[in-house]
Amino acid sequence: MRDLHRGGPLHMLQQVGHDADGAIARLDLGPFRPFLVSHPDHLKHILRDRSDNYPRGAAMWDALGRLAGKGIGGEGAQWHASREILKPAFSARHLSSASEQMIDSILGAVQDLGRRAATGRPVDAGREMTRIVQRVIDPLFFGRLVPAEEGDRLGDAIATAMGSLLWRMAMPFMPHSIPVPGDRAFKAATRTVNEILRPVVHQARAGGAGGDGNDVVTRLLNGVGADGAPLTDEQVCDDIVALFVAGSESSAIALSWVWVALAQHPHVAEEVVREVDAVVGRDRPRYEHIRKLNYTQMVLKEVLRIYSVGWAVPRVALEDDVIDGVAVPAGATLAISPYLTHRLDSVWPDPHRFDPTRFTPERNRSRHPLAYVPFGSGVHQCLGEAFFGQEAALIVAAILGHYRVELAAPVGPKLSLTLQPREPVELILTPRR
Ligand code: HEM
Repeated sequence: MRDLHRGGPLHMLQQVGHDADGAIARLDLGPFRPFLVSHPDHLKHILRDRSDNYPRGAAMWDALGRLAGKGIGGEGAQWHASREILKPAFSARHLSSASEQMIDSILGAVQDLGRRAATGRPVDAGREMTRIVQRVIDPLFFGRLVPAEEGDRLGDAIATAMGSLLWRMAMPFMPHSIPVPGDRAFKAATRTVNEILRPVVHQARAGGAGGDGNDVVTRLLNGVGADGAPLTDEQVCDDIVALFVAGSESSAIALSWVWVALAQHPHVAEEVVREVDAVVGRDRPRYEHIRKLNYTQMVLKEVLRIYSVGWAVPRVALEDDVIDGVAVPAGATLAISPYLTHRLDSVWPDPHRFDPTRFTPERNRSRHPLAYVPFGSGVHQCLGEAFFGQEAALIVAAILGHYRVELAAPVGPKLSLTLQPREPVELILTPRR
C-alpha cells in the first residue's frame, strides 16, 4: 500500500483510484483502513439499495457531529425529523418564491464586490464567494436574525472549526478524551458559533423573527423532533450550524472553482458571457432566466464533476456485507469518492478534459444514474442541490454581466475536508460597461 505523504493526499487518491479503475480498493493508513469506493454500481449498493446497512458515523460524521450536532448533520430518527422539517424550505415552489429575495441579495453583494474591485487590487474569490452566498442564505435561512456584522465572524468561526477537525478525521480511532492538534482552535471556534447563534434562536423563540415565517429558524422552532416534542434550542442551533456549514462552505468553494475553470478554458468563458448577454442582457436577472442559461448550467455541472468539492462521502458498515465479491466486515469505514467516480474511463470518455457538453439532456440520459454524484445520492442526497443550481447561475450571471474576470495566478487543487484551491483564487475584475 502507498505512503500517504509521497506526493500528497490528492496524488495518493488519484494513484489508488487509477490503479483500482472502479474496483473497491483498500487504503492503508496505519490502524485505519477504509475501503475506497468509486464505481456507480457500488455507490448504488451503498447509498441506495442497502443504505440501512451503511449509515454515517464514520470519522467525518463523528467529527462533524461535534460541530453540527445530531440533527440534519447526523443519522437516525432525529436526522429524519430534521430532514422532514427542512425539506419544504428547499422545494421548487419555495425556491421560486424566494428568488426575488435571492436576486436582491446577489445584486447587493456584487455591488459591494465592485467597490472592493475598484481599488484595482485582485479580490480573493474564496472570501468574496463566501460573502455572497452568506448574504443569500441570511434572509432565507435566518429571516435576517443574524446581525450583518456578525456574518463574517460566524463564517470565519465555522471555517476554523471545520479546518481544525482534520486531525480528528485523520485519526478516527483516537478517543475524544485524548487531545489532538486543532482541538483548542475547534473549541474556541464552536464557542464563537454558539455565542452568535444562541441569542438568535432565543430571540426568534421569543417572537422576534424578522422574516415571513418561512425562514429556516422559524420552521425549526415550529417543528417537532423524533420524540414528537418541539425541538430544543440546542437542537435548533445544531441544525442551523449544520445548514450554514453545508450551505455556505461548499457553495463558496464550488463558485471559486468556477472562476478557475473559466480562466483555464477561455472559449468556454466566452460562450458563457455570450449566453448571459443574450439571456439577461442589461436587465435585472430574473427567475425565468435561470432555465434559459442552459450552457451556464452545463458549465456549473462540469465544474462540479472535475472539482468535486465533496470528494469523499464516508459511511460505516453495520453488518458484514459483500460488494461485488469484496468482503466488507461490520465496522468498516467506506469512503465513497465522487472525485474518482467522476474520473472513471469506463463512464466518462476522456475524463480529464473539461467539456460542459457532457451534460446535454441526451448524454445525461445515457449515463449510469450514479455516475455523477457531486451532491451524493439516496436518503442523504444534498437538500441544497437545486438551491445551489439557482444561486450559482444567478451569481455567475450577475458577475459576468458587470465584469470581465481574470485570474491573477494559476491555482491547483488540494485535499482537505473538501477539495479546495491550494492557493488563494485571486480575481481581477474589470467593469464591462
Ligand atoms: C456545491 C455545493 C454543494 C455540494 C458539493 C454539496 C454536497 C453534498 C453532499 C455530497 C451531500 C451528501 C452527504 C452524505 O451523503 O452523507 C450533501 C448533503 C447535504 N447538503 Fe449539500 N452540497 C452543496 C450545497 C448545499 C447547499 C447550498 C445546501 C443548503 C442550502 C446544502 C445542504 C445540505 C444538507 C442539509 C445535507 C444533508 C442531507 C441529509 O443528510 O439528509 N448543500 N451535500
